Amino acid sequence: ENTEDQVKADSPVVVVANRLPVDQVTEPDGSTRWQRSPGGLVTALEPFVAGRGGAWVGWSGSAGEAPEPFESGGMQLIPVPLSEGEVDRYYEGMSNASLWPLYHDVVEKPEYHRAWWDTYVQVNKRFAERAAAVAAENAIVWVHDYQLQLVPAMLRQSRPDLTIGFFLHIPFPPYELFTQLPWRSAVVEGLLGADLVGFQRPSAAANFVQLARRLHDLTCRRDQIEYDGRTVVAKAFPISIDAAAFDELASSSEVIARAKEIREELGNPSKMILGVDRLDYTKGIGVRLEAFQELLEDGVLEAPDTVLVQVATPSRERVEHYVHMRETIEQQVGHINGVFGSIAGPAVHYFNQSMPREELAALYRAADVMLVTPYRDGMNLVAKEYVAARGDGGGALVLSEFAGAAAELKQAYLVNPHDIAGVKNQLVRALRAEPAETTKRMRAMRRHLFRNDLEHWANSFFDALRRQA
Ligand code: ADP
Ligand code: F6P
Repeated sequence: ENTEDQVKADSPVVVVANRLPVDQVTEPDGSTRWQRSPGGLVTALEPFVAGRGGAWVGWSGSAGEAPEPFESGGMQLIPVPLSEGEVDRYYEGMSNASLWPLYHDVVEKPEYHRAWWDTYVQVNKRFAERAAAVAAENAIVWVHDYQLQLVPAMLRQSRPDLTIGFFLHIPFPPYELFTQLPWRSAVVEGLLGADLVGFQRPSAAANFVQLARRLHDLTCRRDQIEYDGRTVVAKAFPISIDAAAFDELASSSEVIARAKEIREELGNPSKMILGVDRLDYTKGIGVRLEAFQELLEDGVLEAPDTVLVQVATPSRERVEHYVHMRETIEQQVGHINGVFGSIAGPAVHYFNQSMPREELAALYRAADVMLVTPYRDGMNLVAKEYVAARGDGGGALVLSEFAGAAAELKQAYLVNPHDIAGVKNQLVRALRAEPAETTKRMRAMRRHLFRNDLEHWANSFFDALRRQA
């Protein structure tokens, strides 16, 4: 019996994403259990689908046979199996060595392989089949991200009754870059299967409309594309976080006490700088280390009077660029600590680990300056989490203008990560700013964030999608 026969086609809302919102973890005694996953997408969606009789179609995160569908957190979870070869070609290859770098301004060179593409098509088909099997008549299906860009058109073909939304969590490149992709037309046609295509920024939506016009000769009016007798809307919906929940966590007495303890364990530095990222070459972790190193060399900062704490979660560890990047970062950290560390402690505290949310909240609360310096980022939820965590009005955010978040968090100390001198200047400004100044900036960013939170994002996408039904 296959999964299609086992699931009931009764879900009014179906999320389709590369990953399920849970990871299978193995205990020391060999037993396994499911645990809520880290990462922007999961953080954003789980509270929205849960409790609405919704289903979530996704991959479990390991190769081989998939577990049977199961209930978790008020959702029906439908695991999609991926073989070793499919993980290699669809996830690590096409998704993360072709599309990821292409969509992030070609920060690293994308590779294009026909075998990767063929597997991408095949895996997208499997996700579309699972979604079609679980969706009720006239259901709303919300497909997520660059791994699944062909699913909207595949779903529309098998289930024309569905209302289909697609949201791209990462940037969408301009015509001049996108057209490198040997399968560019298939990707655009895949996305045009949706009724609503959402992006993080208006410029990304405009890039997509321009592609439809120039590449496919379609009639477009502002955010509307006429295609196949339908109107497809392409619009920006900047994603956010559950600001109130994060604020509450960060203001709990446990987290405040832990923040104080962190400062003590660091040896009570005058200033603590923090970076928190997935270990990804788009995040500009090296830029941060370089700026900090130069400021130590220049004698502008001294360690361990000022320390940098960098938490970098392991990610996509079998993809070549990630392997190289990790080596480079670890060398850089080793070099800085070799030269500027002392018996009293290192200059850079580096963790290649995932941390519990409480610990992250305490780190945010403890840090004087948060350094977020991606070369390109769809949104960057870490920047928003930092702002949500600073209900005390403390802390300063140094933020790359190439993160989607910069369009909203305008009172941050904005930087161009390609300009090391500029990053150094802004970092020093943020470190030396008067508390009255940083509090004013933080409060303005918090006002924006609390009005534009996760619920606002999900509601505006769903409202726009229902209007298309
Ligand atoms: P991306 O989606 O590219 O990973 P975002 O900044 O948008 O980047 O989202 C990252 C999410 O992962 C945030 O919710 C953040 O709290 C979480 N995260 C990042 N680093 C860690 C870590 N070391 N431990 C636990 N969670 C992390
Ligand atoms: O936001 C981009 C994204 O790829 C999400 O889809 C995902 O949750 C997160 O980054 C982590 O990446 P991965 O699923 O490849 O570990």
